[in-house]
Amino acid sequence: MTREEEIKRRRTFGIISHPDAGKTTLTEKLLLFGGAINVAGAVKSNKIKKTATSDFMEIERQRGISVATSVMGFEYEGYKINILDTPGHQDFAEDTFRTLTACDSVIIVVDSAKGVEAQTRKLMQVCRMRKTPVIVLVNKLDRIGRDPFDLMDEIEKELQIQVCPLTWPINSGPDFKGVYNIYRKNLSLYRADIQSITEAIDFEDINTPELDEQIGSDADTLREHLELVDGVYPPFNNEEYFDAEIAPVFFGSALHNFGVKELLDCFVEIAPSPLPTKAIERVVKPMEEEFTGYIFKIHANMDPNHRNRLAFVKVCSGKFERNTNYYHVRMGKKMKFSSPTAFMAEKKSIIDEAYPGDIVGLPDNGNFKIGDTITGGEELHFKGLPSFSPEMFKYIDNADPMKYKQLAKGIDQLMDEGVAQLFTLDFNGRKLIGTVGALQFEVIEYRLLHEYGASCRWTPMNMYKACWISSDDQEQLENFKKHKYQYIAKDKHGNDVFLAESQYLLQMAQSNYPKITFNFTSELV
Ligand code: G4P
Repeated sequence: MTREEEIKRRRTFGIISHPDAGKTTLTEKLLLFGGAINVAGAVKSNKIKKTATSDFMEIERQRGISVATSVMGFEYEGYKINILDTPGHQDFAEDTFRTLTACDSVIIVVDSAKGVEAQTRKLMQVCRMRKTPVIVLVNKLDRIGRDPFDLMDEIEKELQIQVCPLTWPINSGPDFKGVYNIYRKNLSLYRADIQSITEAIDFEDINTPELDEQIGSDADTLREHLELVDGVYPPFNNEEYFDAEIAPVFFGSALHNFGVKELLDCFVEIAPSPLPTKAIERVVKPMEEEFTGYIFKIHANMDPNHRNRLAFVKVCSGKFERNTNYYHVRMGKKMKFSSPTAFMAEKKSIIDEAYPGDIVGLPDNGNFKIGDTITGGEELHFKGLPSFSPEMFKYIDNADPMKYKQLAKGIDQLMDEGVAQLFTLDFNGRKLIGTVGALQFEVIEYRLLHEYGASCRWTPMNMYKACWISSDDQEQLENFKKHKYQYIAKDKHGNDVFLAESQYLLQMAQSNYPKITFNFTSELV
């Protein structure tokens, strides 16, 4: 196969949902279609159970397992599919945000009874920001759910995207009969008692009496619904989907493996192959000859006795080859990788080459930070690995005077991994950790102790948000910084950050200093 063919057949995507909507179940079913058997347990046990939030060892154990399921690659009908795992737990949302930057498209799972929930809305914001093409699966049709038209309205409103149903359900719950595939013009009947896939029946013309024979009195309702669908929603258009203007919608029941194959078959056909990646200097196209890639995730210290890390590289262009000299742009040095790993289903194995869309795991002993770019030699800096405004803050202080160095090193490395964000207050040099979830403080404390032998002490700080400030008007910026000196800090890269104590104070600052931009994300480059 040529390099071009290899690239074209790749589909790299993430599945996102509010916890419990069915992301894990769908992932498992997709893997089963890919012939990647024995994975059911692997995906499931990666899930951080609600009850585990206070059980620390459990999180550590699952962190270990999650390496295996960080990327799940499999072959399906000539396509190479890479599913990037996105932690559903909201305290790990930052990890999910970053993983989304490495996805060429996304499947959103929505519970048909609950509709669009908070976490989905939040994650969709990231997709919208990056114009990531999304497909929606309305799940759990085997349970009584909401009216499909109401759900479509809600998805449009809440996710701010025009929907385009490609399948349509016939009832839900005990009366669920199946789905009509609008895209392929066929009918799949649901059988609660069997898990296997039933053959779809072609229905070029839904007005034929055969439809009544299949679904009885529901045939007329389906015809009415399809007429409405046809009138209300736009026809599917691949370009609009690529531009993130419309979201194709599917209905199914992941648990019963119903509607999943329809979704997968359509997905491989319409979803984008690797897309161009923006760098500060230029846009990098996947078909380019030279290898480029960036680190979007670091998994560290799985074994506390060995400082082993695995840096995850998204290949953006060219071809990655084992034992080849590549250029680590930030460090300005050449590096060679003798044991790069790829992830096929739940197995990790050493690979010789990888193509755009693929994720390669590079064993690392501290050379990489999230956002680092690797190239064949070009000075390139990939953009778009945002840091999000943290919402929880605590001062971090050293609790063991003998271990000052260890603490500094631990904090440094954990921040490189993107566990949380470190801010240093300008006026007194005090260090502040900002996170998106409360659990992160526990993770940091535990890991500092177990991996670095350092102890820390937390002092909570009541703060609403941290935002990055910039302005073309230097005078106004300096004025603001002088005025608010107690609330000005530097992030890890030396950028100015304003710590707002309340929403009100932030709004005041915004209106009093109109020439200053208050950013809620920073690009990590
Ligand atoms: P998540 O990753 O999005 O958090 O959701 P997950 O797949 O773990 O699913 C959450 C719960 O919903 C699970 O039940 C799962 O079996 C169930 N579920 C998923 N898809 C469907 C579906 O299509 N229909 C129905 N009826 N249920 C579905 P659980 O009892 O919480 O977990 P488990 O004990 O079954 O593992």
